[in-house]
This record gives sequence, C-alpha cells and structure tokens, in this order.
Amino acid sequence: MPKKKSTTITQGLKGKSVSASRTEMTEVVLPQDANVFGNILGGRVMHLVDIAAAITAHRHCRSMAVTASVDHIDFRNPIRIGEIITLKASLNRAFHTSMEIGVKVFSEDILTGEKKHTTSAYVTFVALDENHQPKPVPPVICETPEDRRRFREALVRRKYRLAHRANRA
Ligand SMILES: CC(C)(COP(=O)(O)OP(=O)(O)OC[C@H]1O[C@@H](n2cnc3c(N)ncnc32)[C@H](O)[C@@H]1OP(=O)(O)O)[C@@H](O)C(=O)NCCC(=O)NCCS
Repeated sequence: MPKKKSTTITQGLKGKSVSASRTEMTEVVLPQDANVFGNILGGRVMHLVDIAAAITAHRHCRSMAVTASVDHIDFRNPIRIGEIITLKASLNRAFHTSMEIGVKVFSEDILTGEKKHTTSAYVTFVALDENHQPKPVPPVICETPEDRRRFREALVRRKYRLAHRANRA
C-alpha cells in the first residue's frame, strides 16, 4: 500500500516551550534491576532512558510517537542497588516530524546524598498520525541560553545521524 503522509506543515503549528515537556523520573535501584556485582544493568538504564524520552516527546507533540534512534550511550559510573536513580529529559530540538530529546541520568547515595552524573543519551522520536505515518511536530521555543545551546548542537548531531542512515540504506 502506498505510504500516506500528513500534509500539515510545521510552520502552521504553535510553538511549545522546552519547559512544557521537561520530564524528571526518580526510582530506587532494586536487586532485580542489577547484575551480579550489585550494579544496575545497562539495559535497565536504557529502558528508563527510552521511557523518560518518550514522556517528553508525547508532552511536546501530544500524539503517538516512536523511538527512531538512540545515539551512543556510555556509562560513566555504576549505580548500586539501593541508590536513587534520577533521569532528566528535555527536548533539544523539533525538526519536521522528529524530535531530539536529551536524557541525563544521575545516581544519588541515600546515606550521603552524593549525586553523580552517570549517563547521557540523545534519543530521536518521530510523531505518528492515526495511520501510523510521520506527522509534523510543533516547533520548540527556547527560553534559556542552555536551551539555545542544546538547540544549536542538535542540528549538528542530526546531520551525522542522517548521514549514517543514508550510508546504511
Ligand atoms: C521511525 C519511523 C517512523 C520512520 O519512518 P520512515 O518511513 O523512515 O519516515 P521518514 O523517512 O519520512 O522519516 C520521518 C522522520 O524520521 C526521521 N528518522 C527516520 N529514521 C531515523 C533515524 N534512524 N534516526 C533519526 N531520525 C530518523 C527522519 O529524519 C524524519 O524526520 P524529519 O521529518 O524531522 O526530517 C519508522 O522507521 C519506524 O516506524 N520505525 C520503528 C519504530 C519503532 O518501532 N520503535 C520502537 C523500537 S523498535
């Protein structure tokens, strides 16, 4: 069946601020989330990253959305059983039908309160219409210098991502 595309143009959509879709998720690391060393499994962190990014994507576009790609993820510090894990997700840039969301992960020692930045990831979500086809997303409104820096840098990452996609095809 030929692919049916939404025809609405992004420019016709009202912009939404970065703060309107910002997401924070907090959990405690339980034994079932951990490897034999007592550290959270990388796959569990990736699962939580995907969920935090999905909530931000849905809050921004208010429609169905799917993960199109996750950029390189590295794990800088382990997170131990019993520690608190916090994920902060925010929309870096909305393109046409896709959105780049940055997710930062922090650990927190429950006894000392010490916090460590453990992981960063960039996740691309694509908004879908009722026919499950990509649909335009609202533009993002940057409010702070940090929002503007992330907005600029997202374009550079998108170029690499799309070049990688083109090479793969
Ligand atoms: C993501 C998906 C909807 C893209 O569909 P498509 O037919 O390739 O759509 P298009 O070529 O029109 O691209 C749509 C948008 O996705 C972006 N996109 C597609 N693949 C991408 C990738 N690998 N990385 C980043 N962006 C990507 C395009 O750049 C475009 O964005 P833009 O409109 O902002 O420029 C489709 O590949 C899909 O459904 N994938 C499975 C998603 C899924 O199930 N995820 C859960 C984990 S399996």
